[in-house]
Amino acid sequence: MAKAAFIGLGVMGYPMAGHLAAKGHDVTVFNRTAAKAERWVAEHKGRRAATPREAAAGAEFVFTCVGNDDDVRAVALGPDGALAGMSSGAVFVDHTTASAGLARELEAAGKAKGIGVLDAPVSGGEAGAKNGRLTVMVGGEPASFDRAEPIMDCYGISVMRMGPAGSGQLTKMVNQICIAGLVQGLAEGANFAVRAGLDAKKVFDVISKGAAQSWQMENRHTTMLEGKYDFGFAVDWMRKDLGICLDEAERNGARLPVTALVDQFYKEVQARGGGRYDTSSLMLLLAKL
Ligand SMILES: NC(=O)c1ccc[n+]([C@@H]2O[C@H](COP(=O)([O-])OP(=O)(O)OC[C@H]3O[C@@H](n4cnc5c(N)ncnc54)[C@H](OP(=O)(O)O)[C@@H]3O)[C@@H](O)[C@H]2O)c1
Repeated sequence: MAKAAFIGLGVMGYPMAGHLAAKGHDVTVFNRTAAKAERWVAEHKGRRAATPREAAAGAEFVFTCVGNDDDVRAVALGPDGALAGMSSGAVFVDHTTASAGLARELEAAGKAKGIGVLDAPVSGGEAGAKNGRLTVMVGGEPASFDRAEPIMDCYGISVMRMGPAGSGQLTKMVNQICIAGLVQGLAEGANFAVRAGLDAKKVFDVISKGAAQSWQMENRHTTMLEGKYDFGFAVDWMRKDLGICLDEAERNGARLPVTALVDQFYKEVQARGGGRYDTSSLMLLLAKL
């Protein structure tokens, strides 16, 4: 069993760290808001630390799952950051959805200390984290991946190395680009069905068996038709992710016209107070016109 640290006990990190403990790993946690770490320790019998550095001291593997690039820098770098507490030979795994540039920056910082670094964003949402059924897209050196993979298997159903540092984040960008246009299409279809006077529920029962089928359709059409958005993957997070995609596309020359448009629709949802709504809330803009 490994000695591990987990930093960032949010919607995703809390259950992910729980799966490590449930499989018998020796887990020390850090969370900025200490109350969450206290709750986690009471539930899972691990330890908690006062800083990321203290949590990481002596750990073979250090996992982070925080918000954005700057949040990762705040817990990984600097005198109280995780890397400062880690020893040569240990592996740092970042599960945050962040930029590919940050992944390369962290790899360089780790290399200077003999620490392996993996960028390993996840897909599967809160339910996937709770059920231990996440998809994990990983960038970094094969040797670090081979060591960390069995540990990530505690919460991953598919843990795959995609290439060198940044490749995990680039893969997650493709995931978000594919979702953005798809959710808008689903919202337009649902709104059209209602305005056409069809039984929209029945429409989705039929078309979800055919070529239009998708995870979003299977899991979101009912709540979209009921106007329920107070759950799921938040619009604020999606805008952060689409911003990362659009920045990367500036660098690699990929055209993302639909992604850019849908990003603006999400901006409108935010302006209407829906920043914490699920991404399926694009429907709101059509229904209220
Ligand atoms: N939620 C999803 O469905 C989902 C799915 C796939 C990927 N993701 C990605 O996974 C990451 C985490 O998402 P989440 O839903 O778990 O977010 P969350 O519930 O908001 O949790 C964020 C965690 O990061 C910590 N944190 C944020 N900024 C920090 C800072 N500057 N210093 C120290 N700690 C900081 C928070 O600490 P506090 O408790 O003190 O606030 C909290 O523990 C994000 O990058 C998100 O895009 C989320």
